[in-house]
Amino acid sequence: MNLKKAIEKRRSIRLFRKKEVSEKILRHCIDQARYAPSANNKQPLEYLIVNNKKKDELFRCLTFGGEIDNKEGRPSAYIVVLDKNDKDIDVGLAVQNIVLTAFSQKLGSCILGAIDREKIRDLFNIPSNLKIKLVIALGYPAEKPVIEETEGPLEYKRKNGVLIVPKRKLKDIIRYEK
Ligand SMILES: Cc1cc2nc3c(=O)[nH]c(=O)nc-3n(C[C@H](O)[C@H](O)[C@H](O)COP(=O)(O)O)c2cc1C
Repeated sequence: MNLKKAIEKRRSIRLFRKKEVSEKILRHCIDQARYAPSANNKQPLEYLIVNNKKKDELFRCLTFGGEIDNKEGRPSAYIVVLDKNDKDIDVGLAVQNIVLTAFSQKLGSCILGAIDREKIRDLFNIPSNLKIKLVIALGYPAEKPVIEETEGPLEYKRKNGVLIVPKRKLKDIIRYEK
């Protein structure tokens, strides 16, 4: 898949089909994260794959936006992003590699920062030296969000069941020196 298409067409997906994601694809996504830039090349990130019976418990630690009733259509798998080094900002770069790779494999994903980190730590016995940064929900998409170029407001919302995702216009984000 070409990079332009992947960047432009990837949307956060919050409704998924009931189809498992293979361990091979999950490992591939994490493998691609290894190639991301890393400050001082410290590579502090590690990843926990969750695709077993603890999925439902993890789901209860997450907050999905977009006005969905997630009883049906839950993610098939998750990657919990862990950081050995509190100060680094590598996480966004690595996570972007993961979600774009997932998209190139026909998977939908949603990055989740609104998570109950304490509960997640207990659930998986994550040692205290690892910071829980984000959770990435993954699965085959059961929705097709649509972009709307806007000058604001930026809240995403559903219209007739379709998630509308506002994006700021190019002309509004480039500043020129006077
Ligand atoms: C760091 C980060 C944290 C996020 N946390 C959540 C979250 O907790 N719940 C959620 O439903 N979406 C979350 N999102 C997804 C954003 O809402 C989404 O990226 C945004 O609405 C733009 O939509 P798009 O990804 O389809 O372009 C998060 C995204 C990022 C980058």
